[in-house]
Amino acid sequence: MTNFELFNYISGELNQVEEQLLNNIHSDLPVLESASAHLVKAGGKRLRPAFALLSAKLFSDSVQDVIPLATALELIHMATLVHDDVIDNSSLRRGQETVKSGWGNRMSIYAGNFVFANALLLVESYHRSDIVDVLADTSMRICEGEIQQMVSCYDTQQGLKDYLRRIERKTALLIAVSCQLGAMAMNAAPREITALKRYGYYLGMAFQVTDDILDFTASEEVLGKPVGSDIRQGVITLPSIYAIKFDQRGQKLKTLLSSPDSCRQRAEEIIDIIVQSDGIAYAYQVTNKYADLAIRQLQLLPDVPVRKALADLACFISGRDY
Ligand code: IPE
Ligand code: IPE
Ligand code: MG
Ligand code: MG
Repeated sequence: MTNFELFNYISGELNQVEEQLLNNIHSDLPVLESASAHLVKAGGKRLRPAFALLSAKLFSDSVQDVIPLATALELIHMATLVHDDVIDNSSLRRGQETVKSGWGNRMSIYAGNFVFANALLLVESYHRSDIVDVLADTSMRICEGEIQQMVSCYDTQQGLKDYLRRIERKTALLIAVSCQLGAMAMNAAPREITALKRYGYYLGMAFQVTDDILDFTASEEVLGKPVGSDIRQGVITLPSIYAIKFDQRGQKLKTLLSSPDSCRQRAEEIIDIIVQSDGIAYAYQVTNKYADLAIRQLQLLPDVPVRKALADLACFISGRDY
């Protein structure tokens, strides 16, 4: 089942989000508008808006009020991606050239700030400081997660906990708050808001572990972004952490991963060692564990058909190949 089938419940609303994304990046400066529109038109899975809308649908069929929020969540996500492609020196995103590659680094920084500011305007329309608080805190955490990743490059001493703390900030929190805010916008009960936040958190963890696996195993055409880029940059993710510790070639791997030169020049060899180790299978176990934890949170939520879609989404995320 693809994510598009899982989104059947909210296909109308997602179309409106798509329109709103384009409506909320207008600028008198053609260069800024074209770079921002490129970001929107390149597509993407639209997972964060979908999580907000599906979460809201647990409480009411009519979730029109959540559309600006869902749009803002995708704009914040896009702001992080356009900056990330500068930091990671990536030329492919969502199967298309990145803003970095088409417009350059400086335009990418401005476009990221611009779409982020547009997200703030959309959020402001709710006049709710609790929603602003959640998004401000999450945006700060994403920044911290990205920095933690940067400073831990080539650090072969890092353990599972360091990795989990970093991906929590970098990725899981924005997915958690997408679910949380969908419920908050519908004025759900505090225990339901908490259950959805936890669902999103566990799923966000599963999502990033899978993303890190795909960097070793996916094809660039299907994924729409470069593969092998973590190793080339010295980013040590779960499969590598496992292989360093438990594979018979762990010591060799450690030496290779500690050096920027060997990460760049011998990336294929490093990737082969990791793919042949049990690191990928172990990371899949971790993903499945998080997906199970996510599904368990759903018991605390209204037993309506959308709840099944959220459970199916958890399965899709841990098994995805794009
Ligand atoms: C990419 O997120 C960045 C990560 C957090 C791994 P997505 O995989 O949701 O990217 P798009 O929006 O579908 O392009
Ligand atoms: C994406 O991180 C940026 C954030 C999650 C903030 P990555 O660099 O790991 O993801 P991709 O592979 O470029 O999408
Ligand atoms: Mg990155
Ligand atoms: Mg990247």
